[in-house]
Amino acid sequence: MTSQTTAASSLVDDPTVTGAIETIVQSLVDRQRSITGARPGSPELSATLDGFLSRQEAIKGRPAVLPYVGSGLGRGPLVELADGSVKWDLINGIGVHMFGHSDPDLVATALGAALSDTLMQGNLQFNADAIEFAELLLAEAGRSSALKHAFLINTGAMANESALKLCFQKNAPASRVLAFGCGFAGRTTTMAQIGDSPANREGLPLTVPVDYVPFFDPDRADGSIDESVSRLRQYVRRYPRQHAGFVMELVQGEGGFNVAPREFFVPLVEMCREQGIAVWIDEIQTFGRTAEMFYFQQLGLGEYVDVVTIGKLSQVCACLYTESYQPKPGLLSATFIGSTVALQVGRRMIERLRDGGYYGPGGRIAKLHEAFSEHAGRLIERHPEFFGPVSGPSGEPVTAARFHGGVGGLMRLTPFGGEKSRILRAVHALFDEGVIAFYCGQGPHHIRFLPPVGVMEPAHFDEVFEIVERAFGRVISDQ
Ligand SMILES: Cc1ncc(COP(=O)(O)O)c(C=O)c1O
Repeated sequence: MTSQTTAASSLVDDPTVTGAIETIVQSLVDRQRSITGARPGSPELSATLDGFLSRQEAIKGRPAVLPYVGSGLGRGPLVELADGSVKWDLINGIGVHMFGHSDPDLVATALGAALSDTLMQGNLQFNADAIEFAELLLAEAGRSSALKHAFLINTGAMANESALKLCFQKNAPASRVLAFGCGFAGRTTTMAQIGDSPANREGLPLTVPVDYVPFFDPDRADGSIDESVSRLRQYVRRYPRQHAGFVMELVQGEGGFNVAPREFFVPLVEMCREQGIAVWIDEIQTFGRTAEMFYFQQLGLGEYVDVVTIGKLSQVCACLYTESYQPKPGLLSATFIGSTVALQVGRRMIERLRDGGYYGPGGRIAKLHEAFSEHAGRLIERHPEFFGPVSGPSGEPVTAARFHGGVGGLMRLTPFGGEKSRILRAVHALFDEGVIAFYCGQGPHHIRFLPPVGVMEPAHFDEVFEIVERAFGRVISDQ
């Protein structure tokens, strides 16, 4: 150590430390060689998995949604479970593990971060990690927007709570919120009210007035745009200057991977701008996964955004905002920003995404979606029996619904008419056969994939779709 270096940096650069990290990572890589594709569990270990699952059931008072307990090791999109089985993980903690499991570079980053003096960083005391993480996000977001500041926090719902507070404080005394029908915003008391799912707010007092604008309906294209614009106009007339913000998921995640063209959003955000309503984009599920790092960039909406929230694959969540939404002291703070490991690994993931050829129309993410669509198209052609007519929430036919969709690393299949019970059966059959997926939508329901786009290759879909075909076949034969 010299007077120009700190003890901490001399520790991180110490060849004994870097050599030890390399040795540990090599040991991991050696173990990963045994993981080459989906495989069943071992009979000897099945009791271990079952034991964990019953303990988990006792803790929560209900069984886990999927019989998943990870062993703690994987290889890219493949994950080993506690019974030694290996599965393709196409849901990744609902969109968190962008580089899949046991990525050697990220494990090395985490080992280095673990040497830091504290596990957690907070708003009073933080290290350079928190500053560098936030600066990276702002540099990316600021390329095409006026987003200038960031508040870091450790869950998506709390990033959204922070966003809502910024909207209320800036636009006080406006007390109403606008949101899309069938949206999702998290599960705090307020976010559960703003999200449009009756089950998620059952028994909760409704304390924030929310006005819902219908999301884009591809069956009615222009008519749908006119309807949403006129609904917004009505709300604005009925409650002048009373809306603090409009929270928008540009792709509805939980709502069913519903997408909309730029022309749908532009008149809505323009009206918000005219009326002094904050445009708050919730990119918690989309961040990093589309053909640009932020989907608002892909849609060319940067000039309109006031507040943007991100989470999941960033590992530490954030609320980004423009200069004019700068809060007064006291509005935003918390004990935790996040863990040092999450800050360093999250930053490394975002840098790899930025520099690794993932974005743009010919980038890795766009190509992965293309490969998914081609496989899905072939499956639909070969198996019309899986893909019957799809119905909406009240049983009405959804004529233009395609059997596969989404955008970038948000992918969906809509077999079995989008009927919830059969979609759930398909999710379980997929799990048994070796693919972890989940569902989304409120009717029609869909099978949802959030693959680890950082490490998933188009060729991986060959084995994944063989499994999908077998699993869907089981749903049909069990009917
Ligand atoms: C669009 C959106 N907003 C908010 C959230 C809430 O994030 P978290 O579960 O980290 O609180 C989610 C989580 O799925 C989400 O998809």
